[in-house]
Amino acid sequence: MQTLTPATSRRAGPLRGDAAVPGDKSISHRALIIAALAVGESAIGGLLEGDDVLRTARAVRALGAEVERGDGGAWRVHGVGVGGLAEPAATLDMGNAGTGARLLMGVVATHPFATQFTGDASLCARPMARVARPLERMGARIVARDGCRLPLTVIGSATPVPICYRTPVPSAQVKSALLLAGLNAPGETTVVEPEATRDHTERLLRLLGAEVRIEDRDDGARAVTVVGQPELAGRAVAVPGDASSAAFLAVAALVVPGSAVTLRGVGVNPLRTGLFTTLKEMGADLELVDERDEGGEPVADLVVRAGPLKGVEVPAKRAVTMIDEYPILAVAAACAEGETVMRGLAELRVKESDRLAAIARGLEACGVGVAAGDDELTVAGCAGPPPGGGRIETRLDHRIAMAFLVLGMTALRPVAIDDVAPIGTSFPGFAPLCNRLGADIG
Ligand code: S3P
Repeated sequence: MQTLTPATSRRAGPLRGDAAVPGDKSISHRALIIAALAVGESAIGGLLEGDDVLRTARAVRALGAEVERGDGGAWRVHGVGVGGLAEPAATLDMGNAGTGARLLMGVVATHPFATQFTGDASLCARPMARVARPLERMGARIVARDGCRLPLTVIGSATPVPICYRTPVPSAQVKSALLLAGLNAPGETTVVEPEATRDHTERLLRLLGAEVRIEDRDDGARAVTVVGQPELAGRAVAVPGDASSAAFLAVAALVVPGSAVTLRGVGVNPLRTGLFTTLKEMGADLELVDERDEGGEPVADLVVRAGPLKGVEVPAKRAVTMIDEYPILAVAAACAEGETVMRGLAELRVKESDRLAAIARGLEACGVGVAAGDDELTVAGCAGPPPGGGRIETRLDHRIAMAFLVLGMTALRPVAIDDVAPIGTSFPGFAPLCNRLGADIG
């Protein structure tokens, strides 16, 4: 039986000080995978050492790349070149990692061998047809359980065909899976997305020498094309701090009275910063300072000070740039004055948990007025600390666990979380870091 790790977050003094957040999860998966497809060695600095990324590291090793953690903390990947991976001896267990599973499904779809994938209960419940269907059009066969869920087997094609595919929902994972599959197909593979999603795959592919073309169309769609069978060359990759992890500390600093926190080296790719835009609209005292470029990604320090927030309407078109941030935005909204309405949230139903339902249940348990529709959420702000006192079920969802720990830092009564172990997938050391800044999580 699975053992749970409970924790309770209690109202505490102000949060103060400086912190660096762990490496970006999306970029870490991609750095390992793309480095494994390059010729020669890549040194990856700042890699997130969370369970999700460690699963991807193990998987690319099982596929034939050499992957080691160097003494100084940088990871060294000795790649095998595009098309050079080998059949893994055992099933790849991707744990909770949706990004790792979907991107690697794309990679192996154009390698002529069979790869089995499995994961934890959360990952085995997530839809894979969105990646499997277009990969089949490229020549792969995918044998899966009913509903196209993990465990599944990808039988890669020896004669893959490049495709032009329009994604029905904006998804960086689907786009990336197809671009990575296209790397080992002849000719050009194009993904047309209805709205631009995070572009870390495109940036890293270019950094390691692939030809990637991006065309923004008048209707807001973006077409991304990769030219197949390039020779990628290993090189140094710097992974910035994860904006999606910084989000939890930033909101904590906004809602715990008297707080002032500086978060160093946070990735501020404009396709990831919808939360910061929204928080500023809510009146947050949040500044990006020392904006710079590190290894092809924009990075900044984030200076955040507590203060009153007001409710806002968050448009559906912003969802793609803050898709992982709704749990923590809901916490900010719970402390704000007035109502916050968030639209365009259908994708939240198929994340690590049904996040729309989990946010609504959690806020209700903490005495906050909330209404959830099919793809929208309305939160009635408490104009200050929410009542709290709830017990939250995280259901293997790291972001639900962290969001409600933050709520507990300011709520009138403690918030109990049934299982904080999932936080290790993306933000190892989250609770000790919060406590060092002044929180009371135990
Ligand atoms: C991710 C893309 C998003 C996001 C996930 C990470 C990525 O998922 O929710 O946490 O690294 O590409 P979708 O592609 O399903 O929107």
